[in-house]
Amino acid sequence: MKIFIQLAFAFVFVTMSLVADASCDFQISVGDNLKFSQDKIVASKTCETITITLRHEGKLSKNMMGHNWVLTSAEDVSAVATDGMSAGLNNQYVKPGDSRVIAFSDMIGGGEETSMSFSIDKIALDTEYIFFCSFPGHFYAMRGVFELA
Ligand code: CO
Repeated sequence: MKIFIQLAFAFVFVTMSLVADASCDFQISVGDNLKFSQDKIVASKTCETITITLRHEGKLSKNMMGHNWVLTSAEDVSAVATDGMSAGLNNQYVKPGDSRVIAFSDMIGGGEETSMSFSIDKIALDTEYIFFCSFPGHFYAMRGVFELA
C-alpha cells in the first residue's frame, strides 16, 4: 500500500512537470510560404528556459525559402530585420552581436529542423515582443506575438 501511494505521488508529480513543460517548449512548423504555424506564443513566466523547435516541412532550400525564429521587442523588429539582411545567410541573417536580439535560431530549409533555448531573464513583463523570420523580405508577413503569462 505504501509503495502504491508513493507511485501515485510520483505519477502526479510527473504529470505536473509535463504540464509545466508544455508552456516552456514550443514546436513551430513552417513551409514553402511566409507563415509560422502559430501567430502567438504564450510562455509561462515560471519557465527558466524557453525552447523553440522549428521544423521546415517545405521542399525549398534555405537560400530560396529559408526560415528562422528571431525574438526582439516589437519596436526593434524592423531595424533588426534590416540590419540582418546585410549580415547574410552565413550569419542566419542576424547582425553578429546584435544586442537587440533576445534569441535566434539557425536558418533552415525544407526538410530541416533546428532547436534553440534562451533564458527567461531577458524578457520583461511590460514589453511587447515579436518573433519573426529574418530571411530578407519575410519579416513583414512572417511574424507573431510572444508573451509571458
Ligand atoms: Co522565412
